[in-house]
Amino acid sequence: MSSPAGPSPPHPSDSANIAVLHTEEQIQKRVRELGAQIRQDYEDEEITLLCILKGSFMFAADLARAIEGKVAVEFLGVRSYGDGTRSSGAVQITHDLTTPIQDRHVLIVEDIVDTGLTLEYLKRVLTARGPASLKICALLQRPGAPTDPDYVGFRMGDGFVVGYGLDWAQRFRNLPFIGVVQPPIE
Ligand code: IMP
Repeated sequence: MSSPAGPSPPHPSDSANIAVLHTEEQIQKRVRELGAQIRQDYEDEEITLLCILKGSFMFAADLARAIEGKVAVEFLGVRSYGDGTRSSGAVQITHDLTTPIQDRHVLIVEDIVDTGLTLEYLKRVLTARGPASLKICALLQRPGAPTDPDYVGFRMGDGFVVGYGLDWAQRFRNLPFIGVVQPPIE
């Protein structure tokens, strides 16, 4: 994991102070907007949502319900390797697709685009599998990320975020809102 916000925190402390960045209501409203926009763009095509585990499980579940019509859902588990402070761009697939995506309209659902290295890797690997189309929907995008998702929930600044699927050492994924860990992690 990497972050312009600085190194990943070593371990969450019980006294961690998390400031709300986007409330549950704001998230649900934005997800509904994304769902409507996505359906409009794909017309009546079947969309295969590709949920990138673990961080996008909650976003993908809500997005799937916000898109009317034909939607399939697939899961891909990935783990990024790095020195703990910077992503190396080496990504390991921990849980591969169980259904071929050839000739399908695939929409990658990602939690946050940070350096963009994970998505660059996924685009390469998935393009080789011959989908009819491949697009990206990211819940959050940091400024300066080299990968430009086709759909973005919220653009954000620095700061380590948790909640709504995003973790800090596997914790806080269950928060219904998106929050920033305070004080800023150094
Ligand atoms: P990238 O390859 O640098 O774009 O890494 C993206 C991955 O890093 C995301 O899918 C997240 O799992 C993780 N990540 C980056 N920033 C944060 C954060 O602020 N909170 C939680 N996870 C993060």
